[in-house]
Amino acid sequence: MPVTHFTATPAHAALTEHLTVARRWKMRDLFAEDPARAQAFSLEAAGLFLDYSKNRINRDTLDLLAALARECQVEMRRDAMFAGETINETEGRAALHTALRAPRGQNLRLGGQDVNAEVHAVLDRLHDFSNRVRSGAWLGYKEEPITDIVNIGIGGSDLGPKMACQALRAYVHPRIKPHFVSNVDGHDLAALLPTLNPATTLFIIASKTFTTAETMMNAQTARAWFLDQHPYVDDLKKHFVAVSTNAEAVQSFGIDPENMFPFWDWVGGRYSLWSAIGLPVMLAIGFERFSHLLAGAHELDRHFQTAPLERNMPVLLGLIGIWNRNYFNEAAISIAPYHQDLKFFPAYLQQLEMESNGKHVSLDGKPVAAPTCPIVWGDVGTNGQHAYFQLLHQGTDIVPVDFITALRPSHDLPGHHAALLANCFAQSEALMLGKSADEVKRELAKEGKSAAAIDALLPHKIFEGNRPSNTILLDELSPASLGALIALYEHKTFVQGVIWGVNSFDQWGVELGKVLAKQIQAELNGANTSNQHDSSTQSLIARARAALTT
Ligand code: F6P
Repeated sequence: MPVTHFTATPAHAALTEHLTVARRWKMRDLFAEDPARAQAFSLEAAGLFLDYSKNRINRDTLDLLAALARECQVEMRRDAMFAGETINETEGRAALHTALRAPRGQNLRLGGQDVNAEVHAVLDRLHDFSNRVRSGAWLGYKEEPITDIVNIGIGGSDLGPKMACQALRAYVHPRIKPHFVSNVDGHDLAALLPTLNPATTLFIIASKTFTTAETMMNAQTARAWFLDQHPYVDDLKKHFVAVSTNAEAVQSFGIDPENMFPFWDWVGGRYSLWSAIGLPVMLAIGFERFSHLLAGAHELDRHFQTAPLERNMPVLLGLIGIWNRNYFNEAAISIAPYHQDLKFFPAYLQQLEMESNGKHVSLDGKPVAAPTCPIVWGDVGTNGQHAYFQLLHQGTDIVPVDFITALRPSHDLPGHHAALLANCFAQSEALMLGKSADEVKRELAKEGKSAAAIDALLPHKIFEGNRPSNTILLDELSPASLGALIALYEHKTFVQGVIWGVNSFDQWGVELGKVLAKQIQAELNGANTSNQHDSSTQSLIARARAALTT
């Protein structure tokens, strides 16, 4: 498929022209002039409500952005993705995570493969397995039911299930405690192992490739720890299962093929929560609820496929991001979930967006025409307010924010939820409105400050305002709404990748560090140092070798 460089499109020229006007807008004036602005710039889909009115946009901006999407063939590429075409060109694969949440009976073939039938066959096995573990029918080597599950994986084989287990912790089985170990840093696993009872622990070794160094090292250590507690190798099969596309490597690790749950190379790691990689979530909340997560995502998929671009939630979220990134030149976005249970959501989105679109070359191998993925960062509100929100309000960089919250809590502590929501809404209002010099002066005068004190304080107390944000409301944080929320960001990421002309489904940028680490690891373990390193790296290695051998 030919790549359209978005900076060469007529819509880009028109947007550049439009920007000269948009730069002069003050959002507080736009709101004052149009009492229906919030209604005009908000929409509902798949149980999610998106308010995007606090952006530096008007109707013309959105029409031009939609034209940009059309000229970059977002619709054609979207349809190609859903149809299983080889859109991940550098790896020669489809990107069919949407097929993982399609209901049984959908017709989709890939090569000779009946995708829907295979997906549901694995889901059926997972259903049965998770039921057995949850009901207590699956017994450990001392004939006791499982109480702890430990997912060993990293990146997409960790962040999705970890985020979802935390997000849905209100639904977790009272007997089953999920744990996640990802880091090759032994402090991660070493802190967990002494808290576990080997007789009631189930390890899930989750790795698409089953070659990832961190996961393999943690898996070997966990296996050795388990065998240290009990001599029978055969008992491993009651305590170790694998999720992977690499059956051979799973078998040579010593995991019973019966205990392996497969997925497919057309599922990208960061898009794999919907596959067997979601096993910890199934074990924690039950298969039934996991199927609601899939259904929520599927509903958002249908919306993405069918809604006109101008009323299409992931398209709008993506296009507003493009407007901020490529026209206003904002280099970062902040994700602020006002829900403690979404505390891992910013980290999840970091991988989703930055590993997908952190690219400097477009699909045709040529340098991209404009900056691509912004830096994605954030933390839960209200904690972030007392840490980095100062910069959001008065820093020299403008950082657009996505506020995400749920109207109904899953706890019953009185007063807390209104306080949380009040803070969430107040922050987006403050970022947009700001506080003018006149307002500050009036306020200080009212406090009885002298003219000299007012002059001294004035510049520090002014808020420029006009800082953009989106607000996403869920009715409550449920499996279905979480599924829709994740799918919303997946498709936003896709739309932006299409506009930037990059392949959102490869990740060659992680390879170089992996290769160098292998070489340095051998050197730290005593191999001759090659002297091929720069002097900084060479001296760091020397210091570490000295420390490791004393
Ligand atoms: O190093 C990056 C990466 O390849 C991610 O894309 C992936 O999610 C992660 O490593 C883990 O890979 P695997 O599931 O193959 O262990």
